[in-house]
Amino acid sequence: MNTLTPLTPAPVANPAIRPELSDALRTAVAEKAAAAQQHLSAAVREFGSGVVFANSLGAEDVVLTDLIHRAHLPIAAFLLDTGRLPAETYTLLAELEARYHVRLALYFPAAASVEAYVREHGINAFHESVELRKACCQVRKLEPLARALDGKRAWITGLRAAQSSTRSALAAREHDPVHHLVKFNPLAEWSETEVWAYIRAHDVPYNALHEQRYPSIGCTPCTRAITRGEDIRAGRWWWEDATTKECGLHARKN
Ligand code: ADX
Ligand code: SF4
Repeated sequence: MNTLTPLTPAPVANPAIRPELSDALRTAVAEKAAAAQQHLSAAVREFGSGVVFANSLGAEDVVLTDLIHRAHLPIAAFLLDTGRLPAETYTLLAELEARYHVRLALYFPAAASVEAYVREHGINAFHESVELRKACCQVRKLEPLARALDGKRAWITGLRAAQSSTRSALAAREHDPVHHLVKFNPLAEWSETEVWAYIRAHDVPYNALHEQRYPSIGCTPCTRAITRGEDIRAGRWWWEDATTKECGLHARKN
C-alpha cells in the first residue's frame, strides 16, 4: 500500500469519545475543570488583554472554549487557518461562534509565501521530506502564529502531557522560550477520557471527524484516522518518524 494513502476509517465510532459518565468520573472532571478555570482566571488577572487563546478547535480546545465562556473571561481566541483545514473544522468554527457568541480571529498564511512554496515545490510537497514538511508548516502555521502572538505576553493552549512522549514534561504554566511568553496549558493533566467526559456532560460542540477515529486533527493532507491500538497522534504526519512529529508550534527551545 502507498504509505501516503490514509487508512480507511474504521466503520465503528471511537468508543473513547463516549466514556461512561460515572459519578467518580463526573467528580474528577468537575475538580479538574475548577482547577483549569483557576489557571485561566489567573492568566487574565496577570496579563489582562495580553493573553490570547490558540484555538485549533480540537477536543481540548472546545473544552477550553466552554470553560472560558462559563467563567465569562475576556480571553480572545485565534485560529491558524492554514488553508488546508478539513471542511469539518470550518463547520465546527461556525457552530462554536454561534453557540458562544464569539468571533475567532483567523490568521492566514502570507499569500506570497504560499505561492512561492507551491510554485517551487508543488501543492503536496510536504509528503516528500521532513524538510519540505517543516517548510510548509513554517509558511502556513509558524509565521502566522508569530503574528498572532505579536505584542502578547502570554498564550493559552490545549496541550496535554499524555498526548505524546514529546509532551510528557508539560506543566500547566511554563515559559515559552521560543516566543518569550508565558504559556498556560490548563488541561496539561487531563486524560482523553476526562476531555470527552467534559464534552458530554456540557454538550459541547465538537469536530465530526472525532466520530471517525480522528483523535487529533490538523491539516487534511497531514491527518488520517487511526486504527485500533494506535497512539492518539499516530494519524498526524503518519509517514514520518515519531520523533519529528511536531510542527514547531510548541517547540521547547531554539
Ligand atoms: S500540533 O502542533 O500538533 O499542530 P495540536 O494539534 O496537538 O498541535 O494542538 C495542540 C495545541 O496547539 C492546541 O490545543 C492549540 O492550542 C494549538 N494549535 C494547534 N493548531 C492550531 C491552530 N491551527 N490554530 C490555533 N491553535 C492551534
Ligand atoms: Fe503544511 Fe501539512 Fe504542516 Fe499543514 S500540517 S502546514 S499542510 S505540512
